[in-house]
Amino acid sequence: MDMTGKEIVLGVTGGIAAYKSADLVSRLRHMGAHVHVIMTKNATEFIAPMTFQTLSNHPVSVDTFAAPEYWNVEHVALAKLADLFVVAPATANFLAKMAAGIADDMLTTTVLATKAPVLLAPAMNTGMWTAEATRQNVETLKKRGVLFIGPDSGMLACGDEGAGRMSEPAEIAGRIGEILQKKNDMAGLRVLVTAGATRERLDPVRFLSNDSSGKMGFALAEAARDRGAEVTVVKGNTTAEVTQRIRIIGIESAEDLLKAMMEEAPKQDIIIQAAAVADYRPAETAREKIKKKSGEPLVLRLEENPDVAKEIGRIKKESQTLVGFAAETNQVTEHAKEKMKKKNLDMIVANDVTKPGAGFNTDTNIATIITKDGMEEQPLQTKIQLANTILDRILFLRKG
Ligand code: PMT
Repeated sequence: MDMTGKEIVLGVTGGIAAYKSADLVSRLRHMGAHVHVIMTKNATEFIAPMTFQTLSNHPVSVDTFAAPEYWNVEHVALAKLADLFVVAPATANFLAKMAAGIADDMLTTTVLATKAPVLLAPAMNTGMWTAEATRQNVETLKKRGVLFIGPDSGMLACGDEGAGRMSEPAEIAGRIGEILQKKNDMAGLRVLVTAGATRERLDPVRFLSNDSSGKMGFALAEAARDRGAEVTVVKGNTTAEVTQRIRIIGIESAEDLLKAMMEEAPKQDIIIQAAAVADYRPAETAREKIKKKSGEPLVLRLEENPDVAKEIGRIKKESQTLVGFAAETNQVTEHAKEKMKKKNLDMIVANDVTKPGAGFNTDTNIATIITKDGMEEQPLQTKIQLANTILDRILFLRKG
């Protein structure tokens, strides 16, 4: 991977994993990056600044108030210089300070000032990682667009076993490469994504729904945003987090989805329908909670929902690209191809939801991308990786 000329600021905080960051610096330098290390005072208890100075061939900053040796301007120079800001290891204390906007040393001051993307590689004891305070800090940072890698699970330095080990330097270097080589090939495109599960009300407290978490839809939305697109998500019920710089329209039922999509679709260049939409809804929605009648079965009458994708297919413009998903349990590609035709789609992504690691509520997926020109198997991979491949194929289709 070529990182020639890229400026990477590496924050090192006080944890035993700090020694691994020396290897990270070497790897980044081999790839051509300029690395500037900022250490917290605690980090210097684990590894000497001289190690980083020697490996990076740059001065190491520790104290905000020390007279600048090499830098001819104040600490924000590093914040401005960075193409990417990485903190590895990032301790629980650092995550808490960053989430709260505390700037009380060189590292926290610089990371607060930077406009560069920030990647954190947390490392800490499992109990600290799973503590509610840390969970909330991580969520806060993610919502602000901060990127994370790891932590991995395994035997920790303290003797505990579980999540908390810093990701390996090779993995972190790989992720840094991906971020730095980010494409901007969707700039100027408007992308509409549907995500999550619809809910069809039986009564005020009950509904019919499914297991969709919205992870696949949000992975597509984030990938498109990161590639420069202007993204809108129409979302049903999701557990996936709503992230920055994505317009969100919340819906509950398939009828709501249809209404929102008929309004939004005509304004879009690319429409990707990853939501799991109920095909049927209760024929009646009770106004009051349905009461139990012992000994008697409760019979529900269901009526068909609108097929939203089909309706959008009907009003599709020549310039638009329509993509659907198919969640199948048998004859996966055959059923998906039928749906592609019936709904006037340009592409359908078929996932066999019976396979471990594929489909609903997982961070990974296994899929077949189908277009009029053929099929392409996509093996087990993260939803964000699959999302980027789907976007690559959509752009290829649009080239004509
Ligand atoms: O959300 P996750 O937990 O990450 O899970 C991802 C996923 C499994 C939900 C996703 O990858 C997926 O497969 N989504 C489509 C699920 C589905 O309902 O498939 P389907 O075969 O029933 O529908 C085919 C297409 O028509 C889909 O694009 C669907 O959005 C659309 N549809 C279906 C029914 C309906 N009444 N209206 C629709 O628009």
